[in-house]
Amino acid sequence: MKKKTIRTGIIGAGFAATFHFECLKKVHDTNVEVEGVFSTDTEQAKSYADKRDIAAYDSMEKLIDKVDVIHVCTPPVAHEPIAVAALEKGKFAIVEKPLTGYFGDGSEDFNGDTFPKQDALDHSLASIKRMLDAEKKSKGRILYAENWIYAPSIQKEREIIEKTGAQVLWMHGEEAHSGSHATTYAYWKFSGGGVMIGKGCHPLTAALYLKCVEGNARNGKPIRPKAVSARTAALTRLEKFEDKGHIRCDYHDIDDFSLMHVIFEDGTIADIFASDIVLGGIHNWLEVSANNHRTICNINPNTAMATYNPVESYFSDIYTVEKTGTKQGWSNPSPDEDWFTGYPQEMEAFYRTIAYGDTLESTSNLAADCISTIYSAYISAEKTGTEVPIQTF
Ligand SMILES: NC(=O)c1ccc[n+]([C@@H]2O[C@H](COP(=O)([O-])OP(=O)(O)OC[C@H]3O[C@@H](n4cnc5c(N)ncnc54)[C@H](O)[C@@H]3O)[C@@H](O)[C@H]2O)c1
Repeated sequence: MKKKTIRTGIIGAGFAATFHFECLKKVHDTNVEVEGVFSTDTEQAKSYADKRDIAAYDSMEKLIDKVDVIHVCTPPVAHEPIAVAALEKGKFAIVEKPLTGYFGDGSEDFNGDTFPKQDALDHSLASIKRMLDAEKKSKGRILYAENWIYAPSIQKEREIIEKTGAQVLWMHGEEAHSGSHATTYAYWKFSGGGVMIGKGCHPLTAALYLKCVEGNARNGKPIRPKAVSARTAALTRLEKFEDKGHIRCDYHDIDDFSLMHVIFEDGTIADIFASDIVLGGIHNWLEVSANNHRTICNINPNTAMATYNPVESYFSDIYTVEKTGTKQGWSNPSPDEDWFTGYPQEMEAFYRTIAYGDTLESTSNLAADCISTIYSAYISAEKTGTEVPIQTF
């Protein structure tokens, strides 16, 4: 087969832009030509471009004109306008998580703790609608960069559900660690919420996806979420929280713990935890209890490798696993963390969709259900756990 060539532009030059570029180097079936990068931080864009021998653009529009697809690697507040700009020019948009959200009323002193959460749901549903409308009119598509969908353990579970005709009764999962690095993450007005959206979106989307897989395998009809009850907490902002220096605790107006109890239209359930208060490295997993099997998808940590290191300093220049507090004693270094996390598989699949029209697993509709569920969950949490219906698209 002759490989097709796809021209690519990257928007944003920070953390996500860095791992996207690394994954592009591993795409096999498509020739990827990275044309350039654009970021509002021009210095950062120039340094990013120089390191990779690509062009730094001074205009996003000019970059979009030159390419077939753009990678939206900016903070969530900018996802909608950038993706829509690409779609309007008939281009594909790979959009980082979360798809979109509500970032306040524009006031400098906007406070995520106190505003009515119905506003967040109304505004984010309107944002999703604008994005889906732009996609419908475009020759391009939104490819939602939810790496959990492409994690090998989740894809193996997809195969099990499809081939055995399983009925998934209950899923529980979690994404947690000791706190995100980005300074802007502490403010609702930049991140669109706290840990419930920032981390909860990952296991939630995987759970939503597997119920779609189940329904599609049974009768071609995805099983969608119907209602949610949720609780959130700001544990590191409790007056009596004692900071021992292991957990980030400078959050301004966001939650650092959340639980969503999701009820699907067939009455089955999922319980999704997300938190920023867990030590011992990233804790990302999804457990599936079905009528014919039970699976635990360990995304991080996994036990592909176990190492005992008697002296911390021996491993000073060895990366073991993300956000671990110590490398001394027994640990589970990941021999290829990106692979277990699904990043390279995600990029390979996206470029197959763009170049050859392969079926897309992580769609805008899945992303829309995720956003709708999470902002409905924030309303529930505001009402200390009352069940709230979920609008799907
Ligand atoms: N899938 C994952 O595992 C994962 C991990 C980390 C981050 N993310 C997501 O990636 C996105 C970016 O996060 P990050 O950690 O890379 O942030 P970052 O702060 O490291 O980088 C953001 C970049 O976007 C640029 N930028 C900001 N506004 C812009 C605009 N309007 N137009 C163009 N450039 C703009 C900034 O200057 C910076 O270069 C977020 O949506 C985040 O949730 C996903």
